[in-house]
Parts: sequence; C-alpha cells; structure tokens
Amino acid sequence: MDNILGTINGNAYTIGDSLLELSYLIAALLFVYGLKMLSHPATARRGNLWAAGGMGLAMITTLLLHKNADGQGIQLMNMIIIILFIALGSVIGWIVARKVKMTAMPQLVSLYNASGGAASMLVALLEYPNAIAGDTGSILVTVLGLVIGAVAFSGSVIAWGKLDGRVGDIMKPFMTYLNLFLLLATIALSIFIIVSPNPPAELLWAIYALTALSIIYGIMFVMPIGGADMPVVISLLNALTGIAAAMAGFIYDNQAMILGGILVGAAGMILTLLMCKAMNRSLLNVIVGSFGGGAAGAGSEGDKTVKEISLSDAAVLLSYSQKVYIVPGYGLAVAQAQHLCHELDTLLSGKGVEVKYAIHPVAGRMPGHMNVLLAEADVPYDKLVEMDDANNEMPNTDVVMVIGANDVVNPAAENDPASPIYGMPIIKVLEAKNVIVMKRSMAAGYAAIPNNLFYHPKNSMLFGDAKSSLQKLVAEIKNL
Ligand code: TAP
Repeated sequence: MDNILGTINGNAYTIGDSLLELSYLIAALLFVYGLKMLSHPATARRGNLWAAGGMGLAMITTLLLHKNADGQGIQLMNMIIIILFIALGSVIGWIVARKVKMTAMPQLVSLYNASGGAASMLVALLEYPNAIAGDTGSILVTVLGLVIGAVAFSGSVIAWGKLDGRVGDIMKPFMTYLNLFLLLATIALSIFIIVSPNPPAELLWAIYALTALSIIYGIMFVMPIGGADMPVVISLLNALTGIAAAMAGFIYDNQAMILGGILVGAAGMILTLLMCKAMNRSLLNVIVGSFGGGAAGAGSEGDKTVKEISLSDAAVLLSYSQKVYIVPGYGLAVAQAQHLCHELDTLLSGKGVEVKYAIHPVAGRMPGHMNVLLAEADVPYDKLVEMDDANNEMPNTDVVMVIGANDVVNPAAENDPASPIYGMPIIKVLEAKNVIVMKRSMAAGYAAIPNNLFYHPKNSMLFGDAKSSLQKLVAEIKNL
C-alpha cells in the first residue's frame, strides 16, 4: 500500500500506516472490552477471547503493515523467523496451559509474569544502543523498561519457586539494609545513564551492570517475603510486568503495546492495593517487613483437646440446620472436590437448608481462586458471599463447614498479637453455632502457623481428603 496520504516529520504517511494505527485503536478497544468482561465469571472466558483477539489483530497488522524509518516493511526472512517463534511459543503455551493442574495455576501465572518482564528487559537491552545521546525521554523509558522488566523477571522466578515449594523464605534482618542498598544503587546507576551526555555505545558497561543489579534486586526483594504475604507480591509483580511492557511500547511508539501495558499495570496495581487491604497491611510494610514464613506465633496454651466428628453425626447436624456456610480454601482445590461440594450444597438445599459460601479474598493461591474453582462446578455466583458480609451472618449460622481452609479462618489473626498474621481479616467462623473443619491432618496452612480453631470446643474435625470425605458425607446424607 503505497498510497501516500501526506507527510509527518518529513516521512510519507500511507493508507497502510493509517490502517495500522486503526488496528491498534481497535485492539485497544478490544483489550478494554475484554477486561471489562473479565470482571464477572459468567463473561470472563469470552472477555479473555476478545482481549486475545485484540492482541492477535495487533500482531498480524504489525507483521503486514509495519515500516521502519526508511519506509521498508519487515523483511521476508525476519517475518519467517517471527512467525516461527510465535508458532513455537503458542504451541508451548497451549500444551502447558492444557496440562497445568488447577492448583499449579499461580505458578504458571508467575512464569508468565517472568516471561513478560524478561521480554521488556530484552527489548530495552536491544534498543538502548540505538538511542540518541541526549534524548533524555527515550533513554528514560528504555532504562525504566529495563529495570522494571528485570525486577519483574527475576522476582517472578523466585515467586514461582516459592509457590512451587522449591525456594524457601530467607529472612535475615540485614536483608532490609541490603535491599535498600541495592535499590539505591539501581536508582543511582539509572540516573547516571539517563543524564550522561555520552553516546549509548560508550555506556554499554553501565547498562549491563544495571541489568545485573536489577535482576539481583528482584531476587533479593522477593526472597524475604513469605507466608501469607505472597498474594500481594504476586499482584505487584504482575503490575510491574504491565508497566515494563508499557515502557517497551514507548520505546517503539506502539500505541497497542502502551495501552495493553498500562491496562495490565493499572489492573495489577488495583489488585495489589485490594490484596493489601485484604491482608490489612500497607504495601511498604509488605515490601520492607517480612511476614509469616516461620512457625512463630504458636498461640495460647490451654486445653489442646481435639474433638472429631463422625460422618453420620456431621450428616445429621448439617441436614437439620437452617443455615450452613461453607468456607472453601486451598485444600478444596488440591482435592478437586468442588463438584462434590456443589452436590452437598444442592442436597442440603433440597432439604430446605440455606447454603452459602464465605469467600476470603486470599483463600487459595491466586486472586479469585475460590470463585474460579466454584464457578467450574457451576455453583451459582449469588451463593458466593464476600468476607465482610459473610462475617455479619455468622452469628445466625448453624454450621460452618471449613473445607481445606486454614490460614483464612485462623483466630490468631484476631487474638494473638505475637502471631505473624495478626491483623489479617479472617472469616469469623467461631461466631457461628458449630464449626466442622475438613482436612487431612493437624498440619499448618501456607503461612506455616498453628491454628487454635482446631482445639476450640465449638469445633469438630472431620479428618480425611476433602474429596473422599465429601463423597462419604453426601452418601450419608442421602441415606438419612
Ligand atoms: P491454607 O492456609 O494454605 O490451608 C490449606 C489447608 O488445606 C491445609 O492446612 C491442608 O491441611 C488442607 N488440605 C490440603 N490438601 C487437602 C486435601 N486434599 N483435602 C483436604 N484438605 C486439604 O489455605 P487457605 O486457608 O485457603 O489460605 C490461603 C493461604 O495462602 C494464605 O496464607 C494466603 O495468604 C496464601 N496465599 C494466597 C494467595 C492468593 S492470591 N490467594 C497467593 C499465595 C499465597 P492438611 O494438610 O492437614 O490436609
């Protein structure tokens, strides 16, 4: 398409250029529309497809219509290489996404964050030598893309390792100072590169040093953050990936990339703040202070008798209740017992019992984990009640069934100032008349701290894998 419409900065502007810009605008609208649809489980799948369609459109039009400063399109050989790698990446992504277990989803998201960060870092590294000395604006976005991308990359790899149980928490008091030093060194070197009048070719050593420093900072910044604080870190890294992608978009002056990056960055940042609110912590507190990795906060001494409940007693208690709340947690996802959970709910509802689900914002291992899990089992969305509303209803609840949840119902968060999770809002199950906790053992949850709920006189334990326990419970209720 060589039909020239006019000139911009002395360069010819063709119909192809306008079509390319138009496609970016359409892609941006599709991102926004897709994001909007992601806000509800019923439309989330379609929203994902719309946004992916926008990305596909932007990729295709870039391949076909992009021209360099000399007005040349992408060379055939480069085009073949790009298409081959897109195909390779798509096949790997497809296979991994198909194979990944629901419980390993957070790890996969961390790996995606890591690859997004790495991509922005590489774009910045490759483009820095082409920057013009003294062009502070373009050097600024390149350096920001490099630093933020590198931190998001290495931080997400460590987050993946932690979620996968491969990397432990290292929390030494000196690390706060070391991290502060690394952060200041990164900022100082960035400023040096940005204000230096030297041409980029003479500052390559500095850009490589900055890359290494940022990667080390990413590792060291995530290393001490552990236990219950991981949700905040994961969403923060997600936000950083988006911001880094937006910087890469600025480097190429590509509107679709800028907008896509800003949307991911803004959504990630909102999520980070929501997660902080859910944990009742400030962002600075999460990043600077380490929290919830060790086995600290044992809880008060006292009667440590554990009461167990038989399946038949549990079946009777549930069937003759008026109102039952189910508190799902990570263990429900591990056991893949969501369908049985729904079956129990339907069975009880058929007997006139009002059944609802109390959803803690950080239950499971990723934001919205329980909503997705229960949506998979077709649990009606209006049965899912947010933590605060569910807490208001606890005093009128006959039985709370805690299925594979632990930290999110740990009363230490309310009554043990020595506990690492002290201050985190919880589902106040002890305000209900009876509590049944369904898990395999007395083992601790993700934050690795004991839970005195298990010893409370109101509570009874139903030990076993959630799937088999629910199977037996459903059978028992059917036989009543
Ligand atoms: P957890 O506190 O991790 O407790 C889950 C419990 O499920 C465990 O105590 C375990 O006990 C039980 N369990 C595991 N497999 C089971 C099975 N097959 N059947 C029955 N029970 C099983 O979970 P939670 O209450 O959902 O809290 C989430 C925690 O993860 C919080 O500390 C949160 O901060 C953290 N976290 C959350 C996120 C996000 S974004 N949601 C991300 C990272 C970390 P047994 O071994 O005795 O069965």
